[in-house]
Amino acid sequence: MVKTKRNDPCPCGSGKKYKKCHGSSSPPAGQAAPASGGRSLVSSLLSPSTALRTRPRRRRAPILSAGERDGMRAAGKFNAHLLDLVRERIGPGVKLVDLDDFVREYTQDAGHIPACLGYKGYPKSSCTSVNEVVCHGIPDEYELQPGDIVNVDLTSIVDGWHGDQSETFLIGECSEEARGVTQCAFDCLYAGIEAIGPGSRVIEIGEAIVEIAHERGYSVVEMFQGHGIGKTFHTDPGVPHYPEPRAANSILEPGMCFTIEPMINVGKKGCRVDKRDGWTARTVDGKLSAQFEHTLLMTEEGVEILTQTEHGPRPGHRF
Ligand code: MF3
Ligand code: CO
Ligand code: CO
Repeated sequence: MVKTKRNDPCPCGSGKKYKKCHGSSSPPAGQAAPASGGRSLVSSLLSPSTALRTRPRRRRAPILSAGERDGMRAAGKFNAHLLDLVRERIGPGVKLVDLDDFVREYTQDAGHIPACLGYKGYPKSSCTSVNEVVCHGIPDEYELQPGDIVNVDLTSIVDGWHGDQSETFLIGECSEEARGVTQCAFDCLYAGIEAIGPGSRVIEIGEAIVEIAHERGYSVVEMFQGHGIGKTFHTDPGVPHYPEPRAANSILEPGMCFTIEPMINVGKKGCRVDKRDGWTARTVDGKLSAQFEHTLLMTEEGVEILTQTEHGPRPGHRF
């Protein structure tokens, strides 16, 4: 998942940089002023010809050809198989770094690339987020304890294509609270998937997710969102997990690949990123957080899950 940074594509799907669009304090170009034909305040003050020339070009999410879709299918399949292998190894007493070493070695031995390793300076090949860690936990010497919940997030690059997914694992006997939030994150992922088809608006994902989370008394993290994915790890469209109004005009077209990866908190939705390592995001109140993620392909027929594991939970699963 990604934090929307100033130079990132805007989550609204405009294709403009966040800082030039909704990240700026002035109204976002092309969307804030429907009365002026969708032009921004600034461009509507200019002569029509200048406004046309200065309006940023809309960058769209990549639409994949049949061959490119097969590339994404292969990447998703490899990544899902790797997560099934992690499933066999995870449990009480397992060290996070040992899981990460396994992920790196298995991926490299297969001739593929762990996408996280070295990504924007990230030091490991996986993210392992324990209990109150929302996402981007860096594997360390910690040994998993009975009662922990841990999200393992893996991304592999196979022939240039990215497969990205995560699951939250329950370690030994877990509290009712731990099982409840894990169940909710899983159900939210599938609610997001089931809410969309070709031509859907991205906002429909967030609408479906908050409905379930709020009904069960949980909060939905807003600081990180899903993302377009392909040859690039994080690209358009941004996929907020709440009904961000600006996601209402972002359309999911056949041939687009993207992730849905809701992070659900027992307490407040707020997160803080660790100042020392620059990555680990924790809940502000120290309460539990859980997450599930799939890489998806929108086809002419509907959504295809590219990262389906063989042995992981399926819709209807009870944690
Ligand atoms: N896999 C994460 C995602 O779902 C991104 C992790 S980036 C890293 O988008 F650098 F922290 F590994
Ligand atoms: Co992702
Ligand atoms: Co991920």
